[in-house]
Amino acid sequence: MNVPFFRPSISQADIAEVVACMESGWLTTGPRTKAFEEAFAQYVGAKHAIALNSCTAALHLALEAVGVRRGDLVLVPALTFAATAEVVRYFDAIPVFVDADPVTLCMDPVAAANTAAAIRRGERLPGMTLPYGPMKAIIPMHYGGQMVDVDAIAAVAREHGLAIIDDAAHTLPAHYRAGADQPWRAVGSTADVTCFSFYANKCITTGEGGMAVTNRDDLAERMRIMSLHGMSKDAWKRFSSKGSWYYEIVAPGFKYNMTDVAAALGVAQLARADELLAARASVAQRFIAGLEDVPEVDAPTELPDRRHSWHLFSVQLRLDRLTITRSQFIEEMKARGVAASVHWLPLHMQPYYIQTYGYAASDFPVAAGIWPRLVSLPIFPAMTDEEVDHVIGVVREVARQHSAPAKKG
Ligand SMILES: Cc1ncc(COP(=O)(O)O)c(C=O)c1O
Repeated sequence: MNVPFFRPSISQADIAEVVACMESGWLTTGPRTKAFEEAFAQYVGAKHAIALNSCTAALHLALEAVGVRRGDLVLVPALTFAATAEVVRYFDAIPVFVDADPVTLCMDPVAAANTAAAIRRGERLPGMTLPYGPMKAIIPMHYGGQMVDVDAIAAVAREHGLAIIDDAAHTLPAHYRAGADQPWRAVGSTADVTCFSFYANKCITTGEGGMAVTNRDDLAERMRIMSLHGMSKDAWKRFSSKGSWYYEIVAPGFKYNMTDVAAALGVAQLARADELLAARASVAQRFIAGLEDVPEVDAPTELPDRRHSWHLFSVQLRLDRLTITRSQFIEEMKARGVAASVHWLPLHMQPYYIQTYGYAASDFPVAAGIWPRLVSLPIFPAMTDEEVDHVIGVVREVARQHSAPAKKG
């Protein structure tokens, strides 16, 4: 049996929406994009949603809207995807990395607090090239679909006057609460701006796409204007019957709008978001039960005050209990028909960041220590029980065959 890393879940209803859009005579940003924005804002409990062509675009627009400028400092997780930090570099601003929490793999709020306090004291941390400006923003990322400790990050942001821009590329739906007696809060309702991805393998997809959501009118207006060439507010409607041919350019904006073809798929997928999560969560529970007694492999932990999106199921190998490396483990899985992946080589260990900022791996020891142990197993809503069981069987077999003899003492 061959199990791919991901297979998209596209229903007949999804296809029908896209076909209807193509037959409607309106392909680019229009009524379906508006409908997607409205449904999305309501789903996550935010006032505004701006549909875009990627999460990267959403992150870029969010930083622009909160006023990040050249040389400013932005706190970014060391363990994240390229996009989270590259958007800071778009401004010639400086991403200051923060180490990971070893349990959630999200940004560690204690490390974030220490980093911000050190900067405030005037310390020059690794990566802070001269000259640098003020600290402006923090970009927590919800690793794999489990939310960061939202309140702890908010406390750091409050103390240091930072805008919070959530990288929620993995996360829909997901919830956080501050304790068992506190209300659940949905991802998208807790930050200044939250940025979602609809890339092909994400929780819901539009092929490529993203959404920026916010409760702040000023940020929403700025992001909307900058998403389409800096055209004055209503310009994007200018080809519809309601619109006017006249527009003004108020800033040198970008071209980040979502097409109606993509939004048609988005509307249909959003209607299935809970169902898709339920399917991923059942795969995750089957993995957790099937790997519980494998001493060579640590499964991910869902904290009691989180509801996980289960976009990723990243296990950590106990290399001290194995005679092979992570790469060999993945090769052995591949040879048995299971595709795996790794999320990610920490950014401070990537050539660009080493060369530009002179980072050492040991600058962020948690991220650096987790990286050689990470393996993401396939997880997607359309996965059959047989496929899940095959993955479990393969992980168990590879672990058993390469188990290191127990150390004495
Ligand atoms: C954590 C994270 N942030 C941002 C992105 C970028 O998303 P997009 O491809 O929609 O720009 C990704 C994509 O995989 C991601 O994993």
